[in-house]
Amino acid sequence: MQTLIRRRGAGTSRFIQHTPIKAIVALCMGAASVSTTGIAAADGEAIFNQRCAACHSIGGGRSVGPDLKGIHAKRSADWLIQITKSAQSLVDSGDAEAKKLLDEYKMMMPDQNLSDADVKSVLDYIASKGS
Ligand code: HEC
Repeated sequence: MQTLIRRRGAGTSRFIQHTPIKAIVALCMGAASVSTTGIAAADGEAIFNQRCAACHSIGGGRSVGPDLKGIHAKRSADWLIQITKSAQSLVDSGDAEAKKLLDEYKMMMPDQNLSDADVKSVLDYIASKGS
């Protein structure tokens, strides 16, 4: 598994050309389960600390990105899922609020590449920290 992942990183297109589709599907499924079990999908706090805390606080004020405390009162659940997954796609879709944030913070939040379950648990964790 480890070797396959390294090879994939080293030269994705060449690897895909020479690999039967079944192996690619198996590899993708393997990679997905590595990412979820690796950071305990249910543990929103761990995900936040590993993936968000470098740029966001919850109640500690503005950092690289906005303070996320009480964000659920300000934004719809759907919008939060979308920006957590990909701020770039939200801006590309013409979303006015996402564009405003980009102007204000002068930086696009990088795509997080999280599973739906991970996005949900990290947002639940943020909500649990109060409004
Ligand atoms: C490399 C820095 C960085 C990381 C890591 C990061 N963000 Fe962000 N985030 C930003 C910036 C900058 C913005 C504001 C600009 C934008 O929206 O692109 C933002 C905006 C947001 C917003 C919108 C806030 C508002 O006021 O509406 C949410 C929600 C958010 N991030 C959640 C997360 C979550 C959850 C994670 C972890 C899974 C995360 N971010 C990881 C930099 C980051």
